[in-house]
Order: sequence, then structure tokens, then C-alpha cells
Amino acid sequence: MKAPFFDLSAEISNCKAELAEISAVIDSGKFVGGPLVEKFEMELALFNESRCCAGVGNGLDAIRIVLEALEIRPGAEVIVPSLTCHSTWLAVVKVGATPSLADVLEGTAGLNPELIEVTISLWTSAKIGAHLYGIASRVSAINRIADNFSIPVIEDCAQSHCASIEGKKVGTFGLAGAFSSYPTKNLDAIGDAGAVSMDDEQVLHLLKSRRSCGQRNSKYERVDIDWNSRLDPIQAAVTSFKLRHLAGFNSRRKDIASSYLEAMGDRSQKVIGLGQENSVWNHFVIRSDNRESLMHYLAEQGVGTDIHYPYYNRDSPALNKYLHISPGQQLDSPTKGLYVRPGLWRNLQTFSKDAVCLVLASEHFDEADYLHEYSDYLLWAGAN
Ligand SMILES: Cc1ncc(COP(=O)(O)O)c(C=O)c1O
Repeated sequence: MKAPFFDLSAEISNCKAELAEISAVIDSGKFVGGPLVEKFEMELALFNESRCCAGVGNGLDAIRIVLEALEIRPGAEVIVPSLTCHSTWLAVVKVGATPSLADVLEGTAGLNPELIEVTISLWTSAKIGAHLYGIASRVSAINRIADNFSIPVIEDCAQSHCASIEGKKVGTFGLAGAFSSYPTKNLDAIGDAGAVSMDDEQVLHLLKSRRSCGQRNSKYERVDIDWNSRLDPIQAAVTSFKLRHLAGFNSRRKDIASSYLEAMGDRSQKVIGLGQENSVWNHFVIRSDNRESLMHYLAEQGVGTDIHYPYYNRDSPALNKYLHISPGQQLDSPTKGLYVRPGLWRNLQTFSKDAVCLVLASEHFDEADYLHEYSDYLLWAGAN
């Protein structure tokens, strides 16, 4: 059995309905903005039970534009998880602020609330929490601390469309939820796409102007300078269609994950997010002391794996120039650079070495075959 980690062409070839949605965009003659983008924005806001939403070009810009709308500027620090997609920190660096890293919890890969307070300084202006792998990380403790210090919270929901905590969707716990519909996400476009949903209509208004070169109500009324990061109507039409089916897609992911867990038996303790009932399983991540051999073994069987994420932030070549590590660094001294405070990134270190994602959303095999085909691999994986 061959199962590439992702094969998006196989997925789209089954999706005639999306093609019809795309034709509708072409027929409409509205190739930038327009009613299909507005429809998607309304649908996502309704879906998330938030008051409003703005479609943007991608998930990185979703975070960046919120930071800009909040006037986060050079000199400010923004708390970010030590383990996350490069884009979460990049958004912070792009507005000229300094990412201040806090480590994640072993069980959920979400920010560790115990480390938030020591990460806060006089210059902390925002906090970004990421719900990684489809797991809704427990945000209430973190938000309480942020509230005490009047720090706005942005949730990076790129990997967790529809994950929830006690019935409340991710993206609605802080000031804003930033979403990506990069084609490997749960709500996937057929290109780049992103969105921000929130309750604050005033901030959203600013954000809408910022996604469109600083434009306000009319074409030549500019209130600020910014880039263009608008949601393409073709992507809006596709994500709008997929949003209607998201619960079904997520439930399939959950079934597959359950098959994996069943096959792993006691060894499923090695799965990140085990016991998180409302995870939407963007990735199925297991921890293995023998990761390279496992990946090699699965590759030989034609089964793809991936690592999210293989690096410490501090090893990221692109971010190195922003890096400033000083063991004796005072918490209250603002320094141009990426803050990596010793002792605050233990789980990042271990995850970077032993976490590996197994195939989850491949179109290449039948769900009923999973258990049968994978149990040997999974037992092997869990045993190492
Ligand atoms: C956690 C996280 N944040 C941000 C992003 C950035 O999204 P995009 O690739 O749409 O810019 C991604 C996706 O790649 C992600 O996984």
C-alpha cells in the first residue's frame, strides 16, 4: 500500500463540486473581493460564533495584520510558543516586534501557562497562542494571566479549524482567531488563503483596510500604508463550500486517529493530544525514541511521514539574525532580537528530536483498511 503524506491532487480530483464553485466565480466576473468573499466571511464568523470576519491572503498575514491593527511596533515584545510554525514568529518579526518564547506543554503542545508570567515584561504588548496539530490548547489559564496584565491574546488557529473547548470554538477565546487555509489544513483551499475572526468590529474595520493597501471606504481614501493581502474569491468559494463539509472531514480524521490509537493500545501514551476529545487531528503526532528508523521503515513501505517541527526556533537560519541569547539576561531589559530564555524551552528541545507525524488525511486508502494495514507499523512505532 502506498500512502504519501499528502497528495492533494488525488483529493481535488474527487471534488467536482469545488469546480462548479470556481466556475461561479468566473461567471461572476468579480475576481478581487466581491460577494463570494463577503459570503465566506459571514459564514466563517457564524461558524465560529464570532461577530465578524475578514478574509486575507494567508495565515501568516492573518496574524501580522492583527498585530498591525493593534499597533504593535518595534520595541514591543510578543509572547509566542516555542514550538509552532515558523510563520507565527515571522508575523511578529515582520511588524518589527520581538518574539518572546515560552515553552509548550507535553500533552497538548500548547503554551505552558506556568511560563507565561515569567515571560511577561514591561514591553509585552500581545500574546499569541497556537492550537497545534488540531488540539485545542487550554487557553483559559493563559488568558486569565494575559487579562490581568491587559495583554491582548491572538489565537493562531491555522491547524485547528473547528476544534473546541467545552463547545466554544478556538479563535473565540482571545481578541482574534487567525486561520490559514493552506492546502494541508483542515479547512483547505486550493492555494493560499487565510482569515481572521473576532468580536471587535472596530479592530476588524482597521484590519480590512490594512489587508487592502491601507484603503478605507473608497478607492483612493488611504488611511495608512500597508500591503495587499486580500482573500482571492476563488479560494473563498472553495473554502465556503468546504466549510459546509468541515464537520464530516474532521470526523473522518477522528475515525482514522481512533483506529491508530486502538492499534497502538497502551503505547498510544506516545501520541501528542491523547485524550483531547475535541481535537480535529490536523496531524497525528507520535513521539518515538527511534524516529529516524521509524521514518525510514515507513518510507520503505511507501508510507509518508513528516516532522512538525524539526528545528528549535533558535536554529532557524532565517531568524538567526533576530536571535539574542544571553544567559544572564534580565527579564526587564528589552533587546532587539528573539528572546530565548534558558530553561523555558525543554519540551521544544525534546519534541524537535522525537516527534513525527503519521499519515492521516491521505486519499489513498480506505478507512476500513487502516487498522489492518497500520497495526504493525504502529506497534513498532510505539515500541521504540
Ligand atoms: C501554526 C501555523 N501558523 C501559521 C501558519 C501560516 O499559514 P500560511 O501558510 O497560510 O501563511 C501555519 C501554516 O502553514 C501554521 O501551521
